[in-house]
Amino acid sequence: MTKPVLVSGIQPSGRLHIGNFVGALRHFKELQDSGDYECLFFVADYHSITEPFRPDMKGKEVKDVVRMFLAAGLSPQKSTIFVQSHISAHTELAWIFSTLTPFGELSRMTQFKEKSVRQPSANIGLFTYPVLMAADILLYDTAVVPVGDDQLQHLEFTRTIARKFNAKFGKVFTEPKPLMTDIPRLMSLHDSEKKMSKSVPAGCLYLDDAPDDIRKKIASAVTDSGGKVRYSIKKGGGISNLMRIYGAFADLPMKDVEKVFEGKGYKEFKSALAELLIKKLSPFREARYSDKELEKVIAQGDKKARALADVKLTEVKKKIGLTR
Ligand code: AMP
Ligand code: TRP
Repeated sequence: MTKPVLVSGIQPSGRLHIGNFVGALRHFKELQDSGDYECLFFVADYHSITEPFRPDMKGKEVKDVVRMFLAAGLSPQKSTIFVQSHISAHTELAWIFSTLTPFGELSRMTQFKEKSVRQPSANIGLFTYPVLMAADILLYDTAVVPVGDDQLQHLEFTRTIARKFNAKFGKVFTEPKPLMTDIPRLMSLHDSEKKMSKSVPAGCLYLDDAPDDIRKKIASAVTDSGGKVRYSIKKGGGISNLMRIYGAFADLPMKDVEKVFEGKGYKEFKSALAELLIKKLSPFREARYSDKELEKVIAQGDKKARALADVKLTEVKKKIGLTR
């Protein structure tokens, strides 16, 4: 029996940070190693150009995501690792899906509303972002998509498109389900009310930060006025965020983190956290893959993804009467 397919993508827009690891990469590795799924992980470069970017940096950013995939333990032998823009079926299917998508449905997407406020002259790509995402997922008969809660609306949209297409043209698509939606959000080191995000570099701890930068960033991270290393889900706050980071990397529940730092102050806690991060992030810092090696991994994954995607796209075109 063939295994259920699992697909997920990460945008190459700046360096990856510890939020990306805790919220995505570490689960990708666990899911890959569980052996329960046929895994495809890709770099969502077409999605990333919907926001301002530097063309001279984009190629490096794409390779950096692949480098981080490998450093996190994803293996080209076990998973298909590829680049979205290399597989033309993604954008072709997105075009077909766009003809099934009511304008109003995309206008209601929370992410579009948020991002278009930040970008006064928002482009159409930002608007149709979920349509491309639906194509990314549905091309591979995907059963599960590991994503955080911010992407749930897009996944629901994907399911709607699958249903709509199947009803109109005959069954071609499988409806995917989300996996792990209640991922803990890591917050910015400077503002515990905002999530750590690539778009605000100041509050990020990057996976490949140098040890001295890690020490400096943790030392200057916001805490609270309490002085005790106590966790509070309700109040949130800087210290709870740092404890969540500690817990994620030490693999300890909050109760145990509290125990470790019972009677100790913020300073001691912060220096322990910095040393833990320096140790745990060493695979990312030390990930040395030549451009050639990365290109080889990508070419191998592209080939596998393209073969699957082309078969599906041909099937779709046939259903809508567009075969040559
Ligand atoms: P993004 O950086 O928004 O492209 O997100 C890539 C992946 O990392 C997604 O699966 C997100 O859910 C996850 N992610 C991004 N930021 C955080 C964060 N601050 N905490 C937890 N997960 C995050
Ligand atoms: N929109 C996702 C994010 O920002 C990235 C993404 C694009 C994705 N296509 C996807 C995730 C398909 C899962 C499946 O995190």
